Amino acid sequence: MLQGKKTYLRPLENDDIVLFKKWYNDQEVNYWANGAWPLTTMLGEEEIEERFFLTQDSSDRYIVLNEKKTPIGTIGFRELNLPARSATLFIIIGEKEYWGQGYGTDALRVLIDYLFLQWNLHRLTVDTWDGNHRAIRAYEKLGFKVEGCLRQARFVQGEYRDAIIMGILRNEYESLFNRM
Ligand SMILES: CC(C)(COP(=O)(O)OP(=O)(O)OC[C@H]1O[C@@H](n2cnc3c(N)ncnc32)[C@H](O)[C@@H]1OP(=O)(O)O)[C@@H](O)C(=O)NCCC(=O)NCCS
Repeated sequence: MLQGKKTYLRPLENDDIVLFKKWYNDQEVNYWANGAWPLTTMLGEEEIEERFFLTQDSSDRYIVLNEKKTPIGTIGFRELNLPARSATLFIIIGEKEYWGQGYGTDALRVLIDYLFLQWNLHRLTVDTWDGNHRAIRAYEKLGFKVEGCLRQARFVQGEYRDAIIMGILRNEYESLFNRM
């Protein structure tokens, strides 16, 4: 288990399927996560088990726990590129009462430390849509910089919205937070 100041990260367990069912079927959570509800979510337990627990979906995924070790969300990375030593992070704090209290930033910091310091990655990417100011602010607090905008790449509740791509290099993160 990885430990931050307010959060812990642990591997998935079978009991988490019901939590994923709750989070991935929540309209508000998915509105912020990808604006795509219910197109790409609305998953039943069997589909969740197949997608996240049985098949290798080419992402590494963990559960975010709060201080009391209660699950509040999921986090992970995908698009691992070994020669370039880069990956793309994702996070969903599915328990909405925990939004805006620093849990997401803390969990991301734990994962970033792990990927830069243990996996020896060189670069990390995050992306969201242009209306998700809370996510953009959380990423900025960690040192991510906006690197690009994919015009009208997302469709959010009937409107085309831009996707915002942000990135950070290991040396930038180390100099910002005095990590070695
Ligand atoms: C995005 C997410 C991971 C952020 O985690 P969090 O714990 O809520 O965020 P934090 O409290 O760590 O930081 C949020 C920051 O955004 C700010 N913020 C909140 N709402 C905001 C808004 N509408 N506009 C601008 N800033 C906002 C907060 O004040 C805070 O900044 P501060 O510390 O400088 O005051 C979490 O909210 C979440 O999972 N949301 C649903 C799914 C999602 O959006 N996933 C990520 C996109 S793919």
